[in-house]
Amino acid sequence: MGQDGKKRQVAEAAFEKVRHLLDSETPIGIGTGSTANCFIDVLAESKIDILGVVASSKATEERLGHYGIELLDLNATGILPVYVDGADEADPKLNLIKGGGAALTREKIIAEASVQFVCIADDSKRVDILGQFPLPVEVIPMARSLVGRALVELGGDPEYRQGVLTDNGNLILDVHGMSITDPKGFELAINQIPGVVTCGLFAKRPADTLLLASDTDILEFSRDA
Ligand code: A5P
Repeated sequence: MGQDGKKRQVAEAAFEKVRHLLDSETPIGIGTGSTANCFIDVLAESKIDILGVVASSKATEERLGHYGIELLDLNATGILPVYVDGADEADPKLNLIKGGGAALTREKIIAEASVQFVCIADDSKRVDILGQFPLPVEVIPMARSLVGRALVELGGDPEYRQGVLTDNGNLILDVHGMSITDPKGFELAINQIPGVVTCGLFAKRPADTLLLASDTDILEFSRDA
């Protein structure tokens, strides 16, 4: 099965998993990227009447708007029962690298504000140690060089993502050459650099459930297992 087929299948599995939470009174969170898009498609096709969605990016807001799904403000909803989103890498403890689509900061906010974070991906995203995928870091524009030097000191090789501005008006540095054996410590270290908005490591708040599509199956991993 190709990657597109896997993304669709894992989106359908996620829909089944969270279906009991979908009703006209309950807000949910949805992330950004091609796998999250598949989830939006499945949700829209189901025609279930849902209250609405807190979206992690303008791109996701547009897709939801196209289907006529209500957009909600996290400040108004408060804590969400569930957040569904993709990832760029996931390790065995369900720590993640996210931000390939530059939406990492809003993704991290919604993940933190959610009781359950269901991460959906194809099996190419599963790794033993995070870092093969360049780690995205969202940076205030005036701090680009300062943050770049600090990331080099931490052992990384940062590359400015040319031509990309985040939904918050900031820049992305992608940090190459990392083998992240202490995701929580590294997340904290990067987030303390002045000028960093946040990094794409989701270790302080990892996923709770990881659904992975293989050629033949949907594999389910739980953080508590
Ligand atoms: C968006 O900023 C990312 O965190 C995405 O969740 C991640 O890049 C996964 O995207 P795909 O589902 O397109 O692989």
